[in-house]
Amino acid sequence: MKKINIAVLVSGGGTNLQALIDAEKAGIIHSGTIKLVVSNNKDAYALTRAKNNNIEQRVVLRRDYESSRDFEAALIGILKDAEIDMIVLAGFMSILSPYFIGEYRDRIINVHPALIPSFCGKGFYGLHVHEAALEYGVKVTGATVHFVNEIPDGGKIILQKAVEVRDGDTPEILQRRVMEQAEWIILPQATELVAAELAERK
Ligand code: GAR
Repeated sequence: MKKINIAVLVSGGGTNLQALIDAEKAGIIHSGTIKLVVSNNKDAYALTRAKNNNIEQRVVLRRDYESSRDFEAALIGILKDAEIDMIVLAGFMSILSPYFIGEYRDRIINVHPALIPSFCGKGFYGLHVHEAALEYGVKVTGATVHFVNEIPDGGKIILQKAVEVRDGDTPEILQRRVMEQAEWIILPQATELVAAELAERK
């Protein structure tokens, strides 16, 4: 079967990107190839991770474009040039519009660091999610991988994994535990699940 081409969109440290790269090397992801990494932040360490693994990297900055639509059009141009079949949002801190989503319907997945529908939607990203979980006082949190649709964090859930909250947790400690015990495991698994389906149709 023909492998599909995967693009990973990032904004920061890229530990989830690293988990995807490692999973491809380990054969956990075998229905697709990570062909391209796109960052909307030129200083993202994720770009170094891509470089170290000989994966093509591109930077697209919102401020270089007059409108969000122009920014997204540039992004789509890069993805089409690379013949990308599937997009993984791995810590990509920008909400994509219906225009972009329509171009890749059912082909975009995202990892969110909480058990959706808790602590999700607009404003819930990165450490803020863990701050909110600790403030609420939940005893269990986790991560969710879902399809991206027009509702922020509202698309169909693919995989979820629970992680316990412990006494004395700080947002940073909890974030790390959620990454280690959930995100880095379920993001590669969900990527393979979706890639396998898309590869069947390719
Ligand atoms: C991850 O925890 C990811 O789930 C979260 O940002 C972090 C990125 O870390 N994403 C969101 O909050 C999206 N709403 P990474 O760059 O090390 O993968």
